[in-house]
Formats: sequence, structure tokens, C-alpha cells
Amino acid sequence: MKAVRLTRTGGPEVLEVQEVPDPEPAEDLVIRTAAAAVNPVDLATRSGLIPTSLPAVLGWDLAGTVAHAPAGSGFRAGDRVLAMTAQLGTGVGSMAEYVSFDPKYVARVPQGMALTDAAALPLTGVTAVQLLRRTPDRRGKRILLIGAQGGVGAHLAARLLDEASARTDLLVRPADHSAWQERRAGCPADGAVLTDPAQVEAGAYDIVIDAGGAPGLFEAVRPRGAFLTITPFSAPDPAVRPDVAYTLIGVELDGDDLADVAETAARGDGPRQEATVLPFEEAAEAHRRLERGGFRGKLVLVP
Ligand SMILES: NC(=O)c1ccc[n+]([C@@H]2O[C@H](COP(=O)([O-])OP(=O)(O)OC[C@H]3O[C@@H](n4cnc5c(N)ncnc54)[C@H](OP(=O)(O)O)[C@@H]3O)[C@@H](O)[C@H]2O)c1
Repeated sequence: MKAVRLTRTGGPEVLEVQEVPDPEPAEDLVIRTAAAAVNPVDLATRSGLIPTSLPAVLGWDLAGTVAHAPAGSGFRAGDRVLAMTAQLGTGVGSMAEYVSFDPKYVARVPQGMALTDAAALPLTGVTAVQLLRRTPDRRGKRILLIGAQGGVGAHLAARLLDEASARTDLLVRPADHSAWQERRAGCPADGAVLTDPAQVEAGAYDIVIDAGGAPGLFEAVRPRGAFLTITPFSAPDPAVRPDVAYTLIGVELDGDDLADVAETAARGDGPRQEATVLPFEEAAEAHRRLERGGFRGKLVLVP
């Protein structure tokens, strides 16, 4: 089968489509990949910023159809599914024609959802769900979400804007302002769309969620407030604000969270991000587009 593979780290040009052995059908479910999304972690793995053992097949997210279902797995051949693999921990990447999974980390793609759209959901959506589970009680609180326009940020924004009991301000790039003004019109949550960190009031927020990587905005948290981040490479030093509850999220595989993300998106309550579809052979181009910054939506590769 073919796979997007790294034999050395470096620029996008190190990505190659190569022939690799099919996974052995055994205890695990084997999924025939229809689409696999590109995430920033793939860029960090490819560049060597995050160490990995080589050669490696890249990718965390996929959607496809079940090719082999062991008895008792709860799935049947032909089922439409989405899944997330912790590529860094397991060495199993999603950018291959067939990928094997523990069935407990696989969820069904809701009826009517395109597999290319489903593939865009797992890592970003599950991270958002797990981050929100770790925020303190949000009722009556003032919240700042940094990077609402990003992959994880858009899932967080969709859920936070649905909560009338809190006031949520969004910090986005200037080019995203009008889209987010429109997006939040009519949403239950009160709040503003900000585009400049200088507009952010210091010490004013009960909860600051950083989905973009703006460590300087640690100062926006009030004393005894909470700061949650997902960006280990641009996170503030928690020792600077011992009065703040600091959380660095590390996403974990979870089939129930994945199902929640897929069902939320199917109801129309998800991130509303468009998928840009490219073939596996254009993996390097996908990495270049994401690396440049300013890309919106999700890049999805198809075999
Ligand atoms: N800890 C975990 O478990 C976990 C899980 C998932 C993702 N992550 C990490 O979290 C980060 C975001 O992931 P993602 O998939 O959402 O990436 P993404 O789709 O590239 O989104 C990041 C967004 O943040 C924006 N941004 C960056 N700095 C900003 C700032 N100072 N103010 C406002 N917006 C800012 C970017 O805008 P521009 O494009 O204009 O620069 C981009 O829209 C990545 O570093 C990723 O590796 C961590």
C-alpha cells in the first residue's frame, strides 16, 4: 500500500509517497483510508522539532471505511468511520491506504457527512472537548479565547459561543474579524471579537484559553483565575504567575470524545471549517500552505 512517509527530517520536500507493507488483520480494526487531515503536529514531526523514530508514516486523523472488523468489535466491513492515532507515541500514522486501530478509539461517521469532512475533525475536536472538560465552572465567568479561527480554536469557539451563561471574547487575526463578527451574531454567549493583543484588558479574565500561542496574554488572567494552553512550544512559564491555575493540555485517544465531536458537527454545531482536499502526492504542498500561516479550514489528503 502507499503511505506518506518520512525517512529523514527537514523541509516539506522530505515527504515522500512510498510503498509500505499492509497492516496485518488481527485483533484490530483495519480501516481503508478515504482521507487523512494535516495538523501542525505533522509539520513539527516532519521538521524534527518533535523527535520521532524514522522511518515514520505521518498523520493523526483519518476517516474511511472498515476493511476488516474482528468479531466483537462492534463494527462491520464497510462501516464509515473516523479515528485518531497518537502517531508520535505509537509510530502508526494515518496517511496510509490502510491503518489498524483499536476499535475503542474509532467512531462512526454520521449519515450525510462526507468522509473528507469527517477526517478534518478528530485531533482538533477531541483536543477542544478535553480542554473544556478541564476548565473551571464557566457559568458567570469572563473568558478569552485566543486563536478562535484555528483548527482547535474553531471547535472551542463553537462550543463556548453556545453558552449563554458566560461572556466569551475571541481574539483572532485582523483578517478574520468580519467573519467572526458574523459567526457570533445571534450566538447565545455575549462578548467581543478582538484583533489586537493590545485590546486585551490585563487581569480581566477568569479563564484564558490559548489555542493560538500567545504566551504574553498570560497577563490577561485575573488573580486566582485559570490559563489553559495547547501550545507547548509557545506557552508561558507558569512560575511567572503562581496565582493562576495553569494547565497545558495533552490530548488523549478517546472514542467517546471522538463520537461527541462527530455528532456535534453533524448537528451543525461544530466548527464550520471547509476542507481543502489534495492527493497524498501533494503532502509537501499541504505542509507549505500550513507552514506559511494564514491558512483557514483544514487540509485533507486523499490516497
Ligand atoms: N496539546 C495538544 O494536545 C494539542 C492538540 C492539538 C493541537 N495542538 C497544538 O495547538 C496549536 C494549534 O493547533 P491547530 O490545529 O488549531 O492549528 P491551526 O489550525 O494552525 O490554528 C492555529 C491558529 O492560531 C492562530 N494564531 C497563532 N498565534 C496567534 C495569536 N498570537 N493571536 C491570534 N491567533 C493566533 C493562527 O493564525 P495564523 O494562521 O494567521 O498564524 C492559526 O489560525 C498547534 O501548535 C498544535 O500543534 C496541541
